[in-house]
Amino acid sequence: MPEADKEGKDYSLNKKTETEGFFLKGSNSLDWGMKNRLSRIFNPETGRTVMLAIDHGYFQGPTKGLERIDLNILPIAPCADTLMLTRGILRSIVEPSYTKPIVLRASGGPSILKELSNEQIAVDMEDALRLNAAALAVQVFIGGEYETQSVHNMTRLVDQGMRYGMPILAVTAVGTEMKRSARYFRLACRICAELGAHYVKTYYIPKGFESVTASCPVPIVMAGGKKIPEIDALAMAYNAVQQGAAGVDMGRNIFQAESPAAMIQAVGATVHESLPPKQAHEMYLDLKNEK
Ligand code: R5P
Repeated sequence: MPEADKEGKDYSLNKKTETEGFFLKGSNSLDWGMKNRLSRIFNPETGRTVMLAIDHGYFQGPTKGLERIDLNILPIAPCADTLMLTRGILRSIVEPSYTKPIVLRASGGPSILKELSNEQIAVDMEDALRLNAAALAVQVFIGGEYETQSVHNMTRLVDQGMRYGMPILAVTAVGTEMKRSARYFRLACRICAELGAHYVKTYYIPKGFESVTASCPVPIVMAGGKKIPEIDALAMAYNAVQQGAAGVDMGRNIFQAESPAAMIQAVGATVHESLPPKQAHEMYLDLKNEK
C-alpha cells in the first residue's frame, strides 16, 4: 500500500485565483480542448499565426511550387506556425515527428474542370482526431452556385467540432466572376461566424479591410492569393494584421517566392513583430542572399 502523504497547508489565502479571458477574439466561451487547439495555431503571446497553406492539390493537382512537397515544403515547414494541408499529403509525406499544428482540408469534390462550389465534406471527424489535427478547414462559397450546400458543409463540421473540441476554419471562396469588395467580405465572413465558424480565412482588400475584421466576431486570417512580388505580399500581410487580422494563411506567395525559406521568415517577422514592409523585404533579401 502506498503511504498517504500529509495534507497541504499553504492555500495562499491572500491571493485571488485569476480568471483571465482567453486571448482570442470571440473565443472565450469555448471549451478547454478547443481553446488548447486554437492556442497551438495562434501564438498566445502575439495572438497571431503564420499558416502555410499547401492544400492546393485537392482541386488543382500538382501546383507550381508543390510538385514535390517532400523537397519543396518539408525544409521550410518548421518555420510555419501551422501547416494547412490534406490528409493524403499529411500521411504520405509529413513525418509524424513534425509537431507543429495541422489544419486539415476537410471539404472537396470538384476539380478545376468542374463547378468548384459543388464541394462536400471530405474528411470524417474520427479521422481528423486520429491524425491529431488542430483544426479543420472548409470552403464556403457565398454567392456561389452551391452556396447553401457549402454553408451546410460548414455547419455540419461546426456541430461535429463542438462535440469533439475541434475548431473549424471557414475559408471564404470567391468565384472569379465576383467582385472582391469590403461589402462582399463583410457579408461572407459574418455569415461564417454567425453560423459557428471558429475562425475565418479571407482575402485582403486595400479599401475597407478593417471593416471586415471589425464586423467579424471571431479571428480572421488573411488569405494569400495569386503570386505577387515579394515586397507587395509583405505589404499586404503587414496591412492586414495592422487592420485587425490575427495572422495569415499564405500559400503561393510563400512557396512560389524565389526563396520560400526567406519569405516565410520575413512573413513571420511581419505578422508577429509588425515589421514594416520595407524592413521585412530587406530581411527577405538578406536571408535569400545568405543562402
Ligand atoms: C483556397 O482556395 C485553398 O485553401 C487554397 O488551396 C489555399 O489555401 C490558397 O492559398 P494561397 O491563395 O495563399 O495560395
